[in-house]
Amino acid sequence: MEELEKLDGILNDAENEMKDVDDLNELQQRKANYLGKKGIIASIMANMKSLTVDEKKAIGMKSNKIKQDLEAFFENKKKAIEDAIVSKKLESETIDVTLPGYKLPTGGIHPLNQTIMDLEDLFVGMGYKVAEGPEIETDEYCFEKLNLPKGHPARDMQDTFYINPELLLRSQTSPVQVRTMLEEKGEPIKIICPGKVYRRDADDATHSHQFMQCEGLVLGKDITLGDLKGALLEMFRKMLGADRNIRLRPSFFPFTEPSVEVDVSCGLCGGKGCNTCKHTGWIEVLGAGMVNDNVLRMCGYDPKEIQGFAFGIGVERITMMKYKIDDIRNFYTNDLRFLNQFKEEK
Ligand code: DAH
Repeated sequence: MEELEKLDGILNDAENEMKDVDDLNELQQRKANYLGKKGIIASIMANMKSLTVDEKKAIGMKSNKIKQDLEAFFENKKKAIEDAIVSKKLESETIDVTLPGYKLPTGGIHPLNQTIMDLEDLFVGMGYKVAEGPEIETDEYCFEKLNLPKGHPARDMQDTFYINPELLLRSQTSPVQVRTMLEEKGEPIKIICPGKVYRRDADDATHSHQFMQCEGLVLGKDITLGDLKGALLEMFRKMLGADRNIRLRPSFFPFTEPSVEVDVSCGLCGGKGCNTCKHTGWIEVLGAGMVNDNVLRMCGYDPKEIQGFAFGIGVERITMMKYKIDDIRNFYTNDLRFLNQFKEEK
């Protein structure tokens, strides 16, 4: 019987045909070619009408067996293909846990903040406390109690942003002196006050409408100008190098008497004279002096009992000297090429 022979060869055919198939859709199609309604098995069965009952029976039994075998074969093949797909996927998604990780971008400490931290460290080491005050200040604290009454010509030294006649953006950190004195009510004081200040200046290489100062104030019995010089010399040597020297020149500030301008020896030429120090060997860096009696009295201190000194460090100034920066605007334009130079590698 032709049909029985045909059936015998089918499983073999299917196995050969499926050897290289690795795709589930294709498997589905080929399976239908054999077992579907119009598939090979179905067409064999359709031709049985002319056969005898015995023949039909033999072919029926055989075809059932072949059907089962084919089902089992395609099922196994399907599993094999699915396994292969998963293995391939796992292989392509393998993670090499020994590879170094990606570095997260981190920020750095801004050079001005670094200077303030350094100043705080070294002054706290000398027994100072760190004080703070508001950036929006009253005219009274920023000027009047510092011996600068309204209309005083020295107010012109600091072109100020006024909010109204009584309120302003502080043009110096000196009002923190006033606030601290009023709080301490005649007791000794040893503070520094770092912070932002504002002035109506046009920005250029050496001016900024907003910059930073670090005020210092020491009040106590028998504090002298010599103590001031000692504190500042210590500060400059720690900040800029042990070979630095300072000198004091007479100057004027309404809140100090006597007032001094402090020069530090030039770091580029070592004091011999160069373009940076205009061939003097010295660079002017800050203002200071003995706290004016009027200020002491206005802030509740008796000048006969307690005296002291004050100073105002320009934070940008000292940072520019330390790192040899020639344009103050670099601190405020947030150019990463500039800022990254100060970043510590982690
Ligand atoms: N406040 C002054 C300024 O901004 C700096 C200064 C000078 C502060 C002398 C002081 C001082 O405490 O004693 O120009």
